[in-house]
Amino acid sequence: MSQAQVAAAPKAAGKWQSEIIVFCCNFCAYAAADLAGARRMQYPANVRVVHVPCTGKIALEHILAAFEKGIDGVLIAGCLEGGCHFIEGNLRAKRRSEHLRDMLDEIGVGRERLRMVNLSAAMAPTFVQRVNEIVQTIEGLGPNPLKAHDAPETTQAQKVGVP
Ligand code: FES
Repeated sequence: MSQAQVAAAPKAAGKWQSEIIVFCCNFCAYAAADLAGARRMQYPANVRVVHVPCTGKIALEHILAAFEKGIDGVLIAGCLEGGCHFIEGNLRAKRRSEHLRDMLDEIGVGRERLRMVNLSAAMAPTFVQRVNEIVQTIEGLGPNPLKAHDAPETTQAQKVGVP
């Protein structure tokens, strides 16, 4: 998986560090992430990029499962509106993420932990900026209230199958 350089972020013993997943669609968003890597742009090491065919393919259950397992924040990155290679996938993802944000408020996790961004393949700086913004937001909010207090040697990203 090609991605932007991750900044070295040594974890101090016992200090909480957020875990964030960025779902990138196969076309514009992943290309923007790839371009960020080619340009050696950096974002924090606690961010895992997950490659999906289209943001419209990300099921509500997948995001809820990630939060249930303790992921602190999720960014959904898709093509620009009107630019989805599956016509309306990003529009469905936008509606789904707004619905999910309401649900996250209702269950006490908080809507700020989920965001969506639309990118063209050339928008590597915007990709990195949005990633850094969600990292800052999550670190301000603190750990996901659903985070399990178990197996400290297993990261939450590993638990949901992110390499
Ligand atoms: Fe990029 Fe659908 S292919 S959001």
